[in-house]
Amino acid sequence: MIKPEAMAAGHAGKILDLVLSKGFRLVSLKFTQLSEQEAGKFYEVHKERPFYRDLVNYMASGPVLAAILEKENAVQDFRALIGATDPAEAAEGTIRKRFAESKAKNAVHGSDSDENAAIEGAFFFTGREQY
Ligand code: CMP
Repeated sequence: MIKPEAMAAGHAGKILDLVLSKGFRLVSLKFTQLSEQEAGKFYEVHKERPFYRDLVNYMASGPVLAAILEKENAVQDFRALIGATDPAEAAEGTIRKRFAESKAKNAVHGSDSDENAAIEGAFFFTGREQY
């Protein structure tokens, strides 16, 4: 998912181009905006964290670009491509190093396991929206 601040800054095209150039195939793509309730559900695992409320408000603050991507080792390779959660700690050339504003506004989200990728994909896309 490309997050609201990166969308607002006009980084979506460059980020998507970079992702596709690294061999990820697009299965689904959607320009949409989460309600606070939906953002709260998407990030439910972080409910007890001190940043949860701010995270939910921010993720509902503007449109996002949600995608399902396919590749061998997709979860691991995508996480390597986006870099550390905090752009200050992200490696050179990673998406967060190039495009993220801060640890909270960090440009992109990537699923942390195949299991969560399936759950998060189904959150945004019906079966008929997956190709
Ligand atoms: P993401 O990969 O989408 O998963 C959870 C998100 O919570 C994370 O990216 C950040 O946007 C946010 N987050 C994680 N840790 C912090 C933190 N310490 N302070 C603020 N936001 C955080």
